[in-house]
Amino acid sequence: MVLTIVQRQEEESLGPIFASRYVQDPVPRYALPEKSISKDAAYQIIHDELLLDSSPRLNLASFVTTWMEPECDKLIIEAINKNYADMDEYPITTEIQNRCVNIIARLFNSPVNEKESAVGVGTVGSSEAIMLAGLAFKRRWQNRRRAQGKPCDKPNIVTGANVQVCWEKFARYFEVEIKEVKLRDGFYVMDPVKAVEMVDECTICVAAILGSTLTGEFEDIKLLDDLLARKNMRTGWDTPIHVDAASGGFIAPFLYPELQWDFRLPLVKSINVSGHKFGLVYAGVGWVIWRNKEDLPEELIFHINYLGADQPTFTLNFSKGSSHIIAQYYQFLRLGYEGYKNVMKNCMESAKILRQGLVQIGCFHIISKEKGVPLVAFSFKDGKKSSAFKLSKILRRFGWIVPAYTLPPDVEHMTVLRVVVREDFGRAMVEKFLSHMKIALKELHSVMEAPIPTIRYTIELKPCEAAEDEALRPLPKVVVLSQEVEPVDRSIHLSGGKTKGVC
Ligand SMILES: Cc1ncc(COP(=O)(O)O)c(C=O)c1O
Repeated sequence: MVLTIVQRQEEESLGPIFASRYVQDPVPRYALPEKSISKDAAYQIIHDELLLDSSPRLNLASFVTTWMEPECDKLIIEAINKNYADMDEYPITTEIQNRCVNIIARLFNSPVNEKESAVGVGTVGSSEAIMLAGLAFKRRWQNRRRAQGKPCDKPNIVTGANVQVCWEKFARYFEVEIKEVKLRDGFYVMDPVKAVEMVDECTICVAAILGSTLTGEFEDIKLLDDLLARKNMRTGWDTPIHVDAASGGFIAPFLYPELQWDFRLPLVKSINVSGHKFGLVYAGVGWVIWRNKEDLPEELIFHINYLGADQPTFTLNFSKGSSHIIAQYYQFLRLGYEGYKNVMKNCMESAKILRQGLVQIGCFHIISKEKGVPLVAFSFKDGKKSSAFKLSKILRRFGWIVPAYTLPPDVEHMTVLRVVVREDFGRAMVEKFLSHMKIALKELHSVMEAPIPTIRYTIELKPCEAAEDEALRPLPKVVVLSQEVEPVDRSIHLSGGKTKGVC
């Protein structure tokens, strides 16, 4: 498989670059090509193929940032060749990550005083942050159990069945049993009462979510903290809380500053947040913050000595890019508290308009709450599972990506559609989306009412040889002479199915 290589002279005379002018043979996909090609051709081939991806700005499935200011894009490009792991060579980048950790810790009401440094680390996203927080809880629990001379081989974690898939990954990768509080009709987050009932002496922590992935709802972490404190007092255990604030961590401090969900609650020992969600940075950055040093067992920390100073590190990987950490600091510096608050208020306002528009359409139940992550989760009033999947596919033809998914066990009869309202999904976009939604619904209804395809068979019955005994006589053979299928429009008959792992 060889690509046609065009000589430089010819290249110049071709003017604008188009891959078809260079490539006549198939593009190698799964094996390294034998020969080199020009940079223009390589660019054009890949660029053209990527045009078939969806547009990130129309991806309403994702919480992850799809727009940043050009000044920040510039900083990202400037830092694209810096390996974050080279702290010795890039001490300012390391300093910037430490500034971000401290800014976030103070935003989450960490008990550190003004002169103290907060304990935390930048990660690739909330998933890595959760693995690290989970590991710290496991190790802390094991150390305590060993000191008490008790077995420490069966740790468990208590969560709601609405947890994101990364918690199941943590449980499987690090051998921790996951005990899930079941959801029930009309209640799609962890019930703190039931969670505390499930806690036993082997529970390394209760993981609560500030902003459920499925519906955006905040769990009642204050109530959880109260109930767990009482149980700890009664039993003499010391079960802590981790808050998965992947989405809500950059919403609650700005929109609901009075809501107690963070380090103001004594049992909250660590919190993760996705910088790349409402932290307003492109995909690739998360954060985990611990309440204080004692909550992160020393043996999990590796110490790197850079420029004579000790740089503690606790991550799953070594090398990674620096751009996203720099981009996070840009957003903090650029927006400040005021700017973040405005962005979040605007998102909430757009979510409200979207919600009202969907209510007015009349065929949806709104599942998400008004307080929480700016998103609208909704289901069909008729409860037909296939309607949601079909609608999702029809909307895709307009360019919009709206996921349809079934809720976890015990409420799996519910199929939900979800639109996340990010900063770049402003009012004008919401209105356009609603107008497309109305067209899509008309199409959906015509599909649902379309007659089921009819198949006409012409058959002949061939009598078998008669047996003497009536009871033993075989039935006549059916021979199909022809079959005719009445045509239906296949383009709108789309199959449903379960979508897993919404993020
Ligand atoms: C509640 C929650 N936790 C964790 C995650 C995983 O986050 P990340 O994509 O940053 O790894 C998500 C992703 O949507 C989430 O919603």
